[in-house]
Amino acid sequence: MAIDRVDAYLDAHRGDFEDQLKALLRIPSISAQPDHDADTRRAAEYLRDDLRRIGLETVKLIEFPKGPPLLYAEGPQVAGRATVLIYGHYDVQPPEPMEPWITPPFEPTVVGGNIVARGATDDKGQMFTHLKAAEGWLQAGGGLPINVKFLIEGEEEVGGANLSEFVASHGKDLGCDYAVISDTSQFAPGVPAITYGLKGMAYFELIVRGAKSDLHSGMFGGTVANPLNALATILASLKGADGRVRIDGFYDSVRPLEDWERVEFAKLPFSEATFLEQVGSPSLEGEVGFTTLERRWARPTCDVHGLYGGYQGPGPKTVLPRMAGAKLSFRLVPNQDPRQVAAQFKSHVEKVTPPGVTVEVIEHHGAPAVLVGVDSPGVRAATRAIEAGFGKPPVMMREGGSIPVVGLFKEHLGVDTLLLGWGQDDDNLHGPNEKFSLADFHRGIKAGAHLLAELAK
Ligand code: BES
Ligand code: MN
Ligand code: MN
Repeated sequence: MAIDRVDAYLDAHRGDFEDQLKALLRIPSISAQPDHDADTRRAAEYLRDDLRRIGLETVKLIEFPKGPPLLYAEGPQVAGRATVLIYGHYDVQPPEPMEPWITPPFEPTVVGGNIVARGATDDKGQMFTHLKAAEGWLQAGGGLPINVKFLIEGEEEVGGANLSEFVASHGKDLGCDYAVISDTSQFAPGVPAITYGLKGMAYFELIVRGAKSDLHSGMFGGTVANPLNALATILASLKGADGRVRIDGFYDSVRPLEDWERVEFAKLPFSEATFLEQVGSPSLEGEVGFTTLERRWARPTCDVHGLYGGYQGPGPKTVLPRMAGAKLSFRLVPNQDPRQVAAQFKSHVEKVTPPGVTVEVIEHHGAPAVLVGVDSPGVRAATRAIEAGFGKPPVMMREGGSIPVVGLFKEHLGVDTLLLGWGQDDDNLHGPNEKFSLADFHRGIKAGAHLLAELAK
């Protein structure tokens, strides 16, 4: 059987695949940092060359006036078969701060069965499994069993606008029966999963301005508004002690968890104590009336990501800063509309801003949450493929992270995406010492190879 030859090829080339992944991880493709624009492009070229070498056709880099290229490739036409579109991203988050990294972020190192490097799990290691799965078919299986399109982006981590425009205007070229993304996590080690829901996001920056310059806080304090104090007042108004967002109308369109979901979540092998130990916090918090998994996966949240203003250097300095700023976001759930949340947030800020300052609200990226069907031919094919690769059937779960392209695929291509994550919750994506299990890398490759055959059926 062809699939047996593919499996044998994948087993025989494990070392090569690891070496190739390491070479990709050595490229610091940090999309947020202009200093690394050339490196980001180099990662695209590395993948382009690999796709060509393994036998894909029409492999090309699509250029935009600004930003890194989009990599597109198609397999040889397989007449009468379905088409699968596989998405991934080759850009990574900045590695900073450097101090907590035990080994350098762009010198991939194997530690205890994990490959440690920035991008190991998000998303280079996960995305690469699908290239190697296709390689197995092209090199040993007599060709791909299904029509394959790859779309690999270089500005996912900066919410790049080029891809959304491209998907919106190239619906015909991207036409497919199934979309697949491996950029999420398993439920736990040994518990593979299919993710059927992701959160959306509405990201803002607040800039509060007061006096025309910094002032002595003894001479002027108590008479002239302090933008940092005002910012603290605004931020403190966003959430109540019950963990609920205190913005008018914020929950109006929130889709409640369905009864079957609460039942299924409760059945998953989740331990609050283990979770607490994993994150290393003194205790957990969150919206009253919901379990930890429900809060993580299906309830909207509000978090501040950065604060600036005033004196940040060593020792004390008594100053009334002239301005202060905050970066914050709301993670959204179905069916919240990011634009409506933005409008609600702005009017809330206007209402609670204390006198003596002005506030500017900058809207960064927004994306709606997604929910895909839990029972479809694609999900059944993916279930069989995961069983083949991981030796266990997947559980169905949701995630708190966001992958904006999933909503775009639904809107412009009319397809639900199969979210087949090979990572783990403690992979430290976006943090120091990011890792990806090499065993899961190879299981993912095998599942990916079986998926192409299963979707073709
Ligand atoms: N791969 C992540 C998203 C993710 C992580 C989903 C873990 C599920 C579980 C992706 O690369 C990412 O980081 N997305 C950003 C959003 C983006 C618009 C910057 C996020 O979720 O913060
Ligand atoms: Mn990712
Ligand atoms: Mn990411």
